[in-house]
Amino acid sequence: MKLITCCSFKGGAGKTTALMGLCSALAAKGKTVALFEADENRPLSTWMDNAVENGTWDERCAVFVADELGLLEEAYERAEASGFDYALADTHGGSSELNNTIIASSEFLLVPTMLTPLDIDEALSTYRYIIELLVAENLHAHTAILQQRVSVGRTTASQRAAAALLSALPQFALPMYERDAFAAMKKRGMLHLTLAQMSGDPAMRLMRRNYETALGEIAALGAFVSATLEA
Ligand SMILES: Nc1ncnc2c1ncn2[C@@H]1O[C@H](COP(=O)(O)OP(=O)(O)OP(=O)(O)O)[C@@H](O)[C@H]1O
Ligand SMILES: [Mg+2]
Repeated sequence: MKLITCCSFKGGAGKTTALMGLCSALAAKGKTVALFEADENRPLSTWMDNAVENGTWDERCAVFVADELGLLEEAYERAEASGFDYALADTHGGSSELNNTIIASSEFLLVPTMLTPLDIDEALSTYRYIIELLVAENLHAHTAILQQRVSVGRTTASQRAAAALLSALPQFALPMYERDAFAAMKKRGMLHLTLAQMSGDPAMRLMRRNYETALGEIAALGAFVSATLEA
């Protein structure tokens, strides 16, 4: 089992949304995914409840509450014993012993960030924090910045300047765009199964195309993470 974590010091950076998308992308490829809920607000449990209700929960996935060290350890052991391909950990903002433990146990760390000067500052501090922790513990993990909530339209000069500040760091080549399909996941459930529900309904044609685009983008992120981890 490979642990992939989304972390950022900044609240609202798009961690949970990126994780939900990644989970859908991996499940759509037939992978089994354990979701470690390390945020006491429990957004992933709510996601699962909503998805189950809508018939868009992929049974290849399961949520494990892991918002305390003991629970995290237990979740890890149970998920590992159950043979999950991947575990995805959704952290809360800021630094804590729990977050440190998750970072140190991860094989892939994704740092989502929006392209505002404040967000970039926080992303750089988060990235630095991760690297310092890994070096101090003599550990190796793959790391990548993920540009999140990037407008589909033209980017502004200030967004391009913000993106340039990130260019020295490893990052996923494509941004995660600001899309309704991504924002709606928390209510509607897994992206690939929501899309599957739309097929056959001609009135949904345009919506379906938007969902296909969104799924294609997040599938590319999933393929990148999988390829990196399996290399
Ligand atoms: N790519 C996206 N497209 C559209 N909306 C998005 C996207 N990513 C995130 N959002 C929206 O932005 C808000 C914050 O995102 P999210 O909850 O994923 O951030 P977070 O980093 O997990 O926040 P927190 O620190 O509170 O856990 C949510 O309302 C979410 O729906
Ligand atoms: Mg979150």
